[in-house]
Amino acid sequence: MFDAVAGRYDLMNDLLSMGQVRLWRRTVARIVAARPGDRVLDLAAGTGTSAVSFAASGADCVACDFSLGMLRVGNARLAVQDPQRVRTRGRVSFAAGDALRLPFRDESFDVVTISFGLRNVQGVREALTEMRRVTRPGGRLVICEFSRILIDPVDKVYRRYLTGVLPAIARRVARNPEAYEYLADSIRDWPGQRELADLIRSAGWSSVRWRDLTAGVVAVHVARRL
Ligand SMILES: C[S@@+](CC[C@H](N)C(=O)[O-])C[C@H]1O[C@@H](n2cnc3c(N)ncnc32)[C@H](O)[C@@H]1O
Repeated sequence: MFDAVAGRYDLMNDLLSMGQVRLWRRTVARIVAARPGDRVLDLAAGTGTSAVSFAASGADCVACDFSLGMLRVGNARLAVQDPQRVRTRGRVSFAAGDALRLPFRDESFDVVTISFGLRNVQGVREALTEMRRVTRPGGRLVICEFSRILIDPVDKVYRRYLTGVLPAIARRVARNPEAYEYLADSIRDWPGQRELADLIRSAGWSSVRWRDLTAGVVAVHVARRL
């Protein structure tokens, strides 16, 4: 499915989130707070839009995804927009890999992060365990994912947007509108902030906390590997 939407993936994100996705990514980059020389794994990285922002500070970031289509679009775009890698002081590399069987050594990253990807992985707990395996002791996990709005009237409006307006826009603009019907379903079925925190803890992570963005449309969970 992701191969099929890769070409217009970032454009659709901007459109359907009314630009909010850029603010969410900026906040995640601040929370990741990668330092020069850090090794960052951006898992389910898609076209690597977030990975580029993590590398801006001088960290080396591996953008890993199992959709070759998404990786190709990301790699080609970076080659055109930033051939000399000026915007990214650190290195961004693209790697094909499955979240359930990561092609990386134990304890090889300072930060492992995943944005709008965990919801799509078949085997969330296994993926969280695998992410822990490749994180060094003391290293961090940062998860950015759609979540629950805790203010009832706002939630009602948002649900109407997700199930009515969003698919209607997708039908007009997207080449694969059915992919965006899946989006609304997957957000509805995804655990809330507290349940996700419990799941992260059950995969062996410590010091789990989260921060809501845009009233809980998105939550960023952070945890540490002891
Ligand atoms: C909604 S996109 C998010 C992309 C990107 N992180 C972003 O913020 O735009 C979800 C991505 O998860 C990837 N994905 C889903 N399951 C995966 C798995 N088991 N291993 C690696 N990538 C996976 C898909 O290929 C897709 O690129």
